[in-house]
Amino acid sequence: MSLFPLSLKKVPAIGMGTWYMGEDPDKRSQEIKALQTGIEHGLTLIDTAEMYGEGLSEELVGEAIKPYDRSQLTLVTKVYPWNASGDKMRLSLEHSLRRLQTDYVDLYLLHWREDTPLEETIEMFEQLKAEGKLRAWGVSNFDAADMKELEAISTNCATNQVLYNMSNRGIEFDLLPWMRERQMPLMAYTPLGHGDTLKANFTKNPILLEIAAQHKCSVYQILLAWCIRAGDVIAVPKSGNPEHVKANVKALEIKLNDEELNLIEAIFPRPLQKTPLEVL
Ligand SMILES: NC(=O)c1ccc[n+]([C@@H]2O[C@H](COP(=O)([O-])OP(=O)(O)OC[C@H]3O[C@@H](n4cnc5c(N)ncnc54)[C@H](OP(=O)(O)O)[C@@H]3O)[C@@H](O)[C@H]2O)c1
Repeated sequence: MSLFPLSLKKVPAIGMGTWYMGEDPDKRSQEIKALQTGIEHGLTLIDTAEMYGEGLSEELVGEAIKPYDRSQLTLVTKVYPWNASGDKMRLSLEHSLRRLQTDYVDLYLLHWREDTPLEETIEMFEQLKAEGKLRAWGVSNFDAADMKELEAISTNCATNQVLYNMSNRGIEFDLLPWMRERQMPLMAYTPLGHGDTLKANFTKNPILLEIAAQHKCSVYQILLAWCIRAGDVIAVPKSGNPEHVKANVKALEIKLNDEELNLIEAIFPRPLQKTPLEVL
């Protein structure tokens, strides 16, 4: 399993998302089992946010990780933009730590950018880092121009988490190359595509079905293998189903050849011009 450094630890190129998890009591035990299955199969990075279920996702993660060695896990959570400075950020992080039942997060992200000056957000990130409450910080939903502005203030940003899948490739035009130049890993959210229609477009696509058949796997696994193909992108698929999580682990071993990548390129082409960053 190839590993790359993110937030001071080496992590596999597939982690686990948790949006909408922890909100339905009937699904809780299955969701905990899904996260634990992932951890036991090496998916040691878990992505959550104070926004997800207003803390319910973080609580679920806190419960799921209890039996495991905390030092082997990479916990990522996010702060709302309106909490992203001063005492409000301190309080948000304290709440997140309590829900996650831990005393530090590995990576703390600004969930998206609003009016809070970046200087104030970064100042507090650095303060909380110095106190040991977070190991590294980063951003989410930042376009290339936002990243340039951020870099003028600090070069300590560990990652940028953005929408990226076969149908949402806009970042390949400028944001991804910009991050590559700086060897900053990118976190890809919604790697399986947004909404049932989009998923149906993927899972019923004859070319993707043929590639999946060649690899004796599902289209979902092909979507993940494609997302992480270059070695500097980490995908965080969400699954509350242990069997799906096991399938996602196997996607780490799938290598798409040039012919397959060209076939995918023909149906889901890369961008030829700048488009504004797509967000969910
Ligand atoms: N920073 C941001 O602004 C932002 C925005 C959106 C998302 N995110 C993060 O990114 C994570 C992933 O994005 P997402 O949840 O929107 O979408 P996603 O991971 O692309 O898709 C999740 C869906 O795919 C299904 N699935 C997962 N693995 C599967 C498999 N092997 N076979 C079949 N179905 C599978 C899941 O169903 P089952 O549960 O039944 O497996 C779920 O319905 C989020 O959970 C969150 O942590 C961040």
